[in-house]
Amino acid sequence: MQEQHELYENARKRTKQKKRLYFHFVLFIVGSVFLFVLNRVLKVGEGFMEDWFVWAILLWSFFWILHFINVFITQRFMGKEWERKQTEKLVAKQEKKIEKIQKKLERESQHKAESNFYLEQERIKPKSNLSNKQSITLIAAIAHNNALGKDNDLIWHLPADLKRFKSTTTGHHIIMGRNTYESIGKPLPNRTSVIITRNPEYKVEGCIVVNSLEEAIEVAKNDASPYIIGGAQIYSQAIKIADKLDITEVHYSFDADVFFPEIDSAVWKETSREKFSADEKNKYDYSFITYQKK
Ligand SMILES: NC(=O)c1ccc[n+]([C@@H]2O[C@H](COP(=O)([O-])OP(=O)(O)OC[C@H]3O[C@@H](n4cnc5c(N)ncnc54)[C@H](OP(=O)(O)O)[C@@H]3O)[C@@H](O)[C@H]2O)c1
Repeated sequence: MQEQHELYENARKRTKQKKRLYFHFVLFIVGSVFLFVLNRVLKVGEGFMEDWFVWAILLWSFFWILHFINVFITQRFMGKEWERKQTEKLVAKQEKKIEKIQKKLERESQHKAESNFYLEQERIKPKSNLSNKQSITLIAAIAHNNALGKDNDLIWHLPADLKRFKSTTTGHHIIMGRNTYESIGKPLPNRTSVIITRNPEYKVEGCIVVNSLEEAIEVAKNDASPYIIGGAQIYSQAIKIADKLDITEVHYSFDADVFFPEIDSAVWKETSREKFSADEKNKYDYSFITYQKK
């Protein structure tokens, strides 16, 4: 209805404009004849200028042409309707731009929400679940028959192994079972000693005492490379969650009461091996071997 009314109003206006132009044309023709008669027949203004009626008609025709342009060009193409269409085009363009910006913002906020989600997931990971950057290493000296120790003590004395142990673990957390700690007898310098025991009353000055392997790993969560240093009970539990094994293999078999668990070749891949012969300080042949979890 609104559109119909607008069309009707427009048609009425256009008819009026054309009618006025037509009337102007008739007036121009009659006026031109009148001016001709005034100038040529009645000789009005002859002393002032000869054939002035030509200039008057030219001037008038100029105004009529302006009127014509106004009706058929300015009003037709650039009237209210033209203005409205131009506005509509501009509005449509702006709406498209706004839509694009909104989509971009939506994408950005979705991306942000996803990042926050992953950050939150990282934050609420179970305590035993470590960040990808952390690598847990089991470090041990193992005899040919997997022997680790006897009567809560080491069986052999291999200074090269002790030196390697010291340089590897310095600056890191060393996680051990209560028996191993008592076999060593004191916290090792320049390392954070973490002792695992089921005894809630157990306390050692200069060491962190925890009641499970998971708790020990949690305590060391800010260490990119914590070391599990034994003994047999702790190795057998921790080998399931370790990423790397740093093994000193002593090429000799010993009588022992604690043993290192089997290194399953389906799970572990040997990545380096250095063999050394016995010398005056190190009584047995030995190898430094590294395994990475497959
Ligand atoms: N060759 C090597 O490289 C090497 C390295 C380390 C040790 N060793 C040898 O290994 C021997 C010691 O090993 P081990 O097997 O007898 O003892 P261990 O593994 O050092 O310690 C065992 C103790 O740890 C605690 N424990 C174990 N699992 C636990 C858990 N899930 N939750 C809480 N507490 C837990 C218990 O303490 P509580 O009884 O207090 O509850 C348990 O008695 C010694 O002979 C030592 O010399 C050898």
